[in-house]
Amino acid sequence: MLRVVVLVSGGGTNLQAIIDGVHNGSITNTEIVGVISNNKNAYALERAAQNQIPKRCISPRDYENRSLFNEALLAALDEMQPDLIVLAGFLVVIPEMMITKYRNRMINIHPSLIPSFCGTGFYGLKVHEKALERGVKVVGATVHFVDEGTDTGPILLQKAVEVANGDTPEVLQRRVMEQAEWKILPRAIDLIANGKVRVADGKAIIE
Ligand code: GRF
Repeated sequence: MLRVVVLVSGGGTNLQAIIDGVHNGSITNTEIVGVISNNKNAYALERAAQNQIPKRCISPRDYENRSLFNEALLAALDEMQPDLIVLAGFLVVIPEMMITKYRNRMINIHPSLIPSFCGTGFYGLKVHEKALERGVKVVGATVHFVDEGTDTGPILLQKAVEVANGDTPEVLQRRVMEQAEWKILPRAIDLIANGKVRVADGKAIIE
Protein backbone atom coordinates (compact mmCIF):
# COMPACT_ATOMS: atom_id res chain seq x y z
CA MET A 1 0.00 0.00 0.00
CA LEU A 2 1.56 3.29 -1.11
CA ARG A 3 1.57 5.82 1.74
CA VAL A 4 0.88 9.25 0.22
CA VAL A 5 1.24 12.66 1.88
CA VAL A 6 -0.23 15.65 0.03
CA LEU A 7 1.19 19.17 0.50
CA VAL A 8 -1.31 21.96 -0.15
CA SER A 9 -1.72 25.73 0.15
CA GLY A 10 -5.14 26.52 -1.29
CA GLY A 11 -8.55 25.19 -2.25
CA GLY A 12 -7.44 21.57 -2.53
CA THR A 13 -9.32 20.55 -5.68
CA ASN A 14 -6.38 18.37 -6.70
CA LEU A 15 -6.35 16.82 -3.21
CA GLN A 16 -10.07 16.18 -3.66
CA ALA A 17 -9.41 14.46 -6.99
CA ILE A 18 -6.95 12.16 -5.21
CA ILE A 19 -9.39 11.47 -2.35
CA ASP A 20 -12.15 10.72 -4.88
CA GLY A 21 -9.81 8.48 -6.87
CA VAL A 22 -8.98 6.38 -3.82
CA HIS A 23 -12.68 6.15 -2.90
CA ASN A 24 -13.89 5.22 -6.41
CA GLY A 25 -11.08 2.75 -7.04
CA SER A 26 -9.39 4.60 -9.92
CA ILE A 27 -6.39 4.94 -7.64
CA THR A 28 -5.44 1.51 -6.28
CA ASN A 29 -3.02 0.28 -3.66
CA THR A 30 -2.86 3.75 -2.10
CA GLU A 31 -3.60 5.35 1.27
CA ILE A 32 -3.53 9.12 1.86
CA VAL A 33 -1.83 9.12 5.26
CA GLY A 34 -1.58 12.89 5.70
CA VAL A 35 -2.10 16.42 4.43
CA ILE A 36 0.23 19.28 5.30
CA SER A 37 -0.39 22.95 4.53
CA ASN A 38 1.59 26.12 5.14
CA ASN A 39 -1.70 28.05 5.19
CA LYS A 40 -4.05 27.52 8.12
CA ASN A 41 -6.94 28.91 6.06
CA ALA A 42 -6.45 26.49 3.16
CA TYR A 43 -9.79 24.84 2.36
CA ALA A 44 -7.71 21.79 1.48
CA LEU A 45 -7.30 21.23 5.24
CA GLU A 46 -11.10 21.17 5.56
CA ARG A 47 -11.25 18.56 2.81
CA ALA A 48 -8.75 16.45 4.78
CA ALA A 49 -10.85 16.80 7.94
CA GLN A 50 -14.03 15.83 6.07
CA ASN A 51 -12.30 12.63 5.03
CA GLN A 52 -10.65 11.81 8.38
CA ILE A 53 -7.18 12.32 6.93
CA PRO A 54 -4.53 13.41 9.48
CA LYS A 55 -3.57 17.03 8.80
CA ARG A 56 -0.92 19.47 9.95
CA CYS A 57 -0.42 23.18 9.36
CA ILE A 58 3.23 24.20 9.36
CA SER A 59 3.33 27.92 8.74
CA PRO A 60 6.57 29.89 8.12
CA ARG A 61 4.99 32.62 10.25
CA ASP A 62 5.31 30.39 13.32
CA TYR A 63 9.08 30.03 13.01
CA GLU A 64 11.87 32.51 13.67
CA ASN A 65 13.55 31.78 10.36
CA ARG A 66 13.25 29.72 7.22
CA SER A 67 15.70 27.11 8.40
CA LEU A 68 13.61 26.31 11.50
CA PHE A 69 10.49 26.18 9.32
CA ASN A 70 12.22 23.79 6.89
CA GLU A 71 13.21 21.51 9.77
CA ALA A 72 9.67 21.51 11.17
CA LEU A 73 8.19 20.78 7.74
CA LEU A 74 10.55 17.85 7.18
CA ALA A 75 9.93 16.51 10.70
CA ALA A 76 6.14 16.61 10.18
CA LEU A 77 6.56 14.87 6.85
CA ASP A 78 8.90 12.17 8.18
CA GLU A 79 6.48 11.48 11.04
CA MET A 80 3.83 10.49 8.47
CA GLN A 81 6.31 8.05 6.89
CA PRO A 82 5.36 8.75 3.25
CA ASP A 83 6.34 6.57 0.30
CA LEU A 84 5.27 9.39 -2.04
CA ILE A 85 4.87 13.13 -1.52
CA VAL A 86 2.42 14.97 -3.77
CA LEU A 87 2.72 18.75 -4.15
CA ALA A 88 -0.80 19.90 -5.04
CA GLY A 89 -0.66 23.66 -5.24
CA PHE A 90 1.94 23.90 -2.50
CA LEU A 91 3.35 27.42 -2.76
CA VAL A 92 6.36 27.05 -0.49
CA VAL A 93 9.90 26.50 -1.85
CA ILE A 94 10.83 22.90 -1.06
CA PRO A 95 13.95 22.70 1.10
CA GLU A 96 16.92 21.09 -0.63
CA MET A 97 17.34 18.52 2.17
CA MET A 98 13.75 17.38 1.51
CA ILE A 99 14.40 17.01 -2.23
CA THR A 100 17.52 14.98 -1.50
CA LYS A 101 15.80 12.76 1.05
CA TYR A 102 12.74 12.11 -1.13
CA ARG A 103 14.41 12.11 -4.56
CA ASN A 104 12.14 10.48 -7.15
CA ARG A 105 9.48 10.09 -4.44
CA MET A 106 8.03 13.61 -4.73
CA ILE A 107 5.76 14.75 -7.60
CA ASN A 108 4.21 18.10 -8.49
CA ILE A 109 1.22 19.11 -10.64
CA HIS A 110 1.88 22.18 -12.77
CA PRO A 111 -0.91 23.85 -14.79
CA SER A 112 0.96 24.08 -18.11
CA LEU A 113 2.65 21.84 -20.67
CA ILE A 114 6.20 22.12 -19.30
CA PRO A 115 8.58 23.59 -20.54
CA SER A 116 6.06 26.27 -21.51
CA PHE A 117 4.85 28.78 -18.94
CA CYS A 118 6.75 27.39 -15.98
CA GLY A 119 9.60 28.27 -13.66
CA THR A 120 9.91 31.05 -11.11
CA GLY A 121 6.82 33.25 -10.91
CA PHE A 122 4.63 30.91 -12.98
CA TYR A 123 1.94 29.69 -10.63
CA GLY A 124 -1.83 29.97 -10.29
CA LEU A 125 -3.62 32.37 -12.64
CA LYS A 126 -0.35 33.88 -13.86
CA VAL A 127 0.29 30.73 -15.93
CA HIS A 128 -3.02 31.12 -17.77
CA GLU A 129 -2.68 34.89 -18.16
CA LYS A 130 0.66 34.39 -19.93
CA ALA A 131 -0.73 31.60 -22.13
CA LEU A 132 -3.62 33.85 -23.28
CA GLU A 133 -1.24 36.79 -23.72
CA ARG A 134 0.96 34.64 -26.03
CA GLY A 135 -2.08 33.42 -27.91
CA VAL A 136 -1.30 29.69 -27.69
CA LYS A 137 -4.05 27.36 -28.99
CA VAL A 138 -3.24 24.47 -26.66
CA VAL A 139 -2.41 24.49 -22.96
CA GLY A 140 -2.54 21.70 -20.41
CA ALA A 141 -1.01 20.26 -17.25
CA THR A 142 2.09 18.32 -16.28
CA VAL A 143 2.95 15.92 -13.48
CA HIS A 144 6.70 15.81 -12.88
CA PHE A 145 9.13 14.60 -10.26
CA VAL A 146 10.57 17.35 -8.11
CA ASP A 147 14.26 18.15 -8.33
CA GLU A 148 16.35 21.14 -7.22
CA GLY A 149 15.00 23.36 -9.96
CA THR A 150 11.57 24.97 -10.39
CA ASP A 151 9.33 22.73 -12.55
CA THR A 152 12.47 21.11 -14.01
CA GLY A 153 12.27 17.50 -12.79
CA PRO A 154 11.52 14.40 -14.95
CA ILE A 155 8.10 14.68 -16.64
CA LEU A 156 5.78 11.78 -15.86
CA LEU A 157 2.41 12.68 -17.45
CA GLN A 158 1.01 15.54 -19.52
CA LYS A 159 -2.45 16.26 -20.89
CA ALA A 160 -3.38 18.92 -23.46
CA VAL A 161 -6.41 21.20 -23.29
CA GLU A 162 -7.74 23.45 -26.08
CA VAL A 163 -7.95 27.21 -25.63
CA ALA A 164 -11.36 28.57 -26.70
CA ASN A 165 -12.14 31.97 -28.17
CA GLY A 166 -12.94 34.46 -25.45
CA ASP A 167 -11.34 32.43 -22.66
CA THR A 168 -10.50 34.43 -19.56
CA PRO A 169 -7.64 33.26 -17.31
CA GLU A 170 -10.20 32.01 -14.79
CA VAL A 171 -12.21 30.05 -17.36
CA LEU A 172 -9.04 28.54 -18.83
CA GLN A 173 -7.68 27.66 -15.37
CA ARG A 174 -10.87 25.80 -14.53
CA ARG A 175 -10.85 23.88 -17.84
CA VAL A 176 -7.21 22.88 -17.31
CA MET A 177 -8.07 21.66 -13.81
CA GLU A 178 -11.19 19.74 -14.88
CA GLN A 179 -9.84 18.24 -18.11
CA ALA A 180 -6.19 17.75 -17.20
CA GLU A 181 -5.00 18.22 -13.60
CA TRP A 182 -7.73 16.22 -11.90
CA LYS A 183 -7.11 13.36 -14.36
CA ILE A 184 -3.34 13.06 -14.66
CA LEU A 185 -2.48 13.56 -10.99
CA PRO A 186 -4.61 10.61 -9.78
CA ARG A 187 -3.35 8.54 -12.73
CA ALA A 188 0.27 9.34 -11.85
CA ILE A 189 -0.28 8.18 -8.27
CA ASP A 190 -1.94 4.96 -9.41
CA LEU A 191 0.96 4.21 -11.78
CA ILE A 192 3.51 4.79 -9.01
CA ALA A 193 1.45 2.82 -6.49
CA ASN A 194 1.54 -0.18 -8.84
CA GLY A 195 5.24 -0.04 -9.57
CA LYS A 196 4.82 1.08 -13.18
CA VAL A 197 7.16 4.09 -13.06
CA ARG A 198 10.91 4.33 -12.97
CA VAL A 199 13.31 7.23 -13.39
CA ALA A 200 16.46 6.71 -15.43
CA ASP A 201 18.87 9.23 -16.92
CA GLY A 202 16.62 12.08 -15.83
CA LYS A 203 13.58 10.69 -17.61
CA ALA A 204 10.44 9.16 -16.08
CA ILE A 205 9.53 5.90 -17.80
CA ILE A 206 6.12 4.24 -17.60
CA GLU A 207 6.52 0.46 -17.95
C1 GRF B 1 -3.63 24.07 -9.34
O1 GRF B 1 -3.96 24.88 -10.45
C2 GRF B 1 -2.30 23.42 -9.60
O2 GRF B 1 -2.04 23.17 -10.95
C3 GRF B 1 -1.35 24.44 -9.12
O3 GRF B 1 -1.95 25.04 -7.99
C4 GRF B 1 -3.36 24.91 -8.11
C5 GRF B 1 -3.83 24.22 -6.87
O4 GRF B 1 -5.21 24.20 -6.85
N1 GRF B 1 -0.09 23.82 -8.77
P1 GRF B 1 -5.95 23.30 -5.73
O5 GRF B 1 -5.48 23.80 -4.38
O6 GRF B 1 -5.55 21.87 -5.98
O7 GRF B 1 -7.40 23.55 -6.00
